[in-house]
Amino acid sequence: MKAVIISQPGPPEVLTIAERPLPSCGESDVLIRVKAAGLNRADVSQREGRYPAPAHVAADIPGLEVAGVVEQCGAGVRRWKVGDTVCALLAGGGYAEYASVEAGHCLPVPRGLSFTDAAALPEVLFTVWSNVFQRGRLQSGERLLVHGGSSGIGMAALQLAKAFGARAWATAGSDEKCRACEAAGAERGINYQREDFEAVLKDEGVDVVFDMVGGDYVAKNLRLLRPEGRLVFINAVKGAKSEFSIRDVMARRLTITGSTLRTRESRFKTALAAEVEQHVWPLIEAGRLRANVYQVFPLGEAAAAHRLMESSQHIGKIVLRCGDEER
Ligand SMILES: NC(=O)c1ccc[n+]([C@@H]2O[C@H](COP(=O)([O-])OP(=O)(O)OC[C@H]3O[C@@H](n4cnc5c(N)ncnc54)[C@H](OP(=O)(O)O)[C@@H]3O)[C@@H](O)[C@H]2O)c1
Repeated sequence: MKAVIISQPGPPEVLTIAERPLPSCGESDVLIRVKAAGLNRADVSQREGRYPAPAHVAADIPGLEVAGVVEQCGAGVRRWKVGDTVCALLAGGGYAEYASVEAGHCLPVPRGLSFTDAAALPEVLFTVWSNVFQRGRLQSGERLLVHGGSSGIGMAALQLAKAFGARAWATAGSDEKCRACEAAGAERGINYQREDFEAVLKDEGVDVVFDMVGGDYVAKNLRLLRPEGRLVFINAVKGAKSEFSIRDVMARRLTITGSTLRTRESRFKTALAAEVEQHVWPLIEAGRLRANVYQVFPLGEAAAAHRLMESSQHIGKIVLRCGDEER
């Protein structure tokens, strides 16, 4: 099969097309003929050599999510059959014509969605569900602040928060991105280049902060949280170390938490897939949640797709198309 490989750690140009053997399909796995693969920021870090793949997946083929057609099922697979259309969360190996994945990490392509839209769903929805709704315990009527609101992750968080009756605010780096956040469900996008999010929100505060920034945002986040508030980290692009007042945590009984999805055990991902299917798939099929695909590239142009992601000009998701077939 053809796959996009990281020929060596480095800039986008190190992504090249190579021939690779088909991935093996274990007893509880399905082999997917990939129609589309979503890009994630983690793929950029992996390409740069800063985020190695876990041991059980191809070390040099990036890609954490795909959509396509089931080509083969392991002997222990009950739910899926050859020809089913699925999207799946992977630990790597998605930028390829075929990918093998645990059957429980697949979900059906939602009714009415294209493969490119479906490939944009697993990583963001699994991440948002587990962090904003499970760890962050966001409730209807509560107030959520999403940093990086125009990212693939951020747009999904804003849409889901609104769908579940929460009120959301977002930070982003331009006015255009702020308007996109508002279209996705934010009451207001806050352009962090011009405004201080703490000053904008300090009168009423928020119940949950969903943060990928860290650094000097941490103390501000904690000051903004209401009693029993929750701060949930999924990254720390401005720095993993920061200084804050423990008094804020004690006085208002705050919770600081966070997680990384890729390294979680298979059983956790299977359970998470089931929750996402139960709670989120009906919203997608009812047209209340969009995939937010910003641009689609052919698989052979993965380097250009990475350049776009690194430019941070995109709003929402970038997707690679594998072959011509679409639906
Ligand atoms: N822990 C987990 O399990 C998990 C899972 C998935 C994703 N993530 C993390 O979630 C974040 C979003 O992922 P994604 O794939 O949706 O990425 P993405 O679409 O590329 O979004 C990243 C966003 O971060 C902002 N950004 C980029 N560089 C920045 C910098 N130096 N300082 C501050 N902001 C910066 C940009 O928005 P602005 O232009 O508005 O600043 C950009 O839109 C990433 O940090 C990723 O690592 C974590």
